[in-house]
Amino acid sequence: MTLFRVLFLLVLLAALAPLALLALVLRASGVEVSAPTLTAGLSAVLLALVISLVMARRVTTPLDELVRGALDIARGRFGRQVVHAGRTELSDLAYTFNFMSRQLERYDGDNTRLFAALERAYLETIRALASAIDAKDPYTRGHSERVAKLAVEIGRELGLDAAELRVLEVSGILHDIGKIGIPEQVLQKPALLTPEEFSVVRSHAAIGAEIVEGVEFLQSARPAIRHHHERWDGKGYPDGLAGEAIPLIARIVNAADTWDACTSERPYHRARSATEVFSIMAQLRGAQLDPNVHDAARRVLMRQWNQTGVVA
Ligand SMILES: [Fe+2]
Repeated sequence: MTLFRVLFLLVLLAALAPLALLALVLRASGVEVSAPTLTAGLSAVLLALVISLVMARRVTTPLDELVRGALDIARGRFGRQVVHAGRTELSDLAYTFNFMSRQLERYDGDNTRLFAALERAYLETIRALASAIDAKDPYTRGHSERVAKLAVEIGRELGLDAAELRVLEVSGILHDIGKIGIPEQVLQKPALLTPEEFSVVRSHAAIGAEIVEGVEFLQSARPAIRHHHERWDGKGYPDGLAGEAIPLIARIVNAADTWDACTSERPYHRARSATEVFSIMAQLRGAQLDPNVHDAARRVLMRQWNQTGVVA
């Protein structure tokens, strides 16, 4: 039974009990009840009904409001206020509820600001790391930031959500962090590398994954760091993963990395034109590049090309 019904019945019982008692006494005394007395009795019963309804409503309405307020807070709508009229225990409860709600809103605001500051510090830290990587090789200056930017655009084109795009951004910035462990004379060699030197350069993917292994807040970027040189056909490194066994984030970083490497000046090749790189990437579709990721990258880059005449 609801509280409203309980209160209604209790108040009604309290109001009708004296009337019923009076009627019993009159009947036992043999007193004849006149029509006006009967009308007055019925009016008293109706009045008791109305009073019961009003009294029950006065108690349950503020309680319903408090329940709705508590549910709003449980859903994260901090700061929710409820109406508290009068000076009863219920209005004290409503006042306390409102105070608690405002305090929760304040704590929530503080937490949001702290989280944003922490996130800014976190992004500045990884950007500093990326600069350290790029500084090792003048040819790759700005490469990490450009790869991150393009990777995020490709991820958005593929329908990734905000959290996945954030992981993609960090992964793009840090994908080559393992180059910190590669000697400059190998990275900057203005000629074709020997097989041994190739193997040293290739080790940057595994080295990068090891570097971030113990860093809790970089764990989400680790798969892309380790696998951004895997190929769709399984002929990549370090693990020779193929197809969808390669994490999607790594496949996207691979496409963005390929575009940026081809369109930038490197010790071993000139910067190619966008048209040339579109053609190179089309040849890599289904071999090095995930066909879907390639197509999304192409749409993103073509749009930039059509809108501004330049890409990335
Ligand atoms: Fe790389």
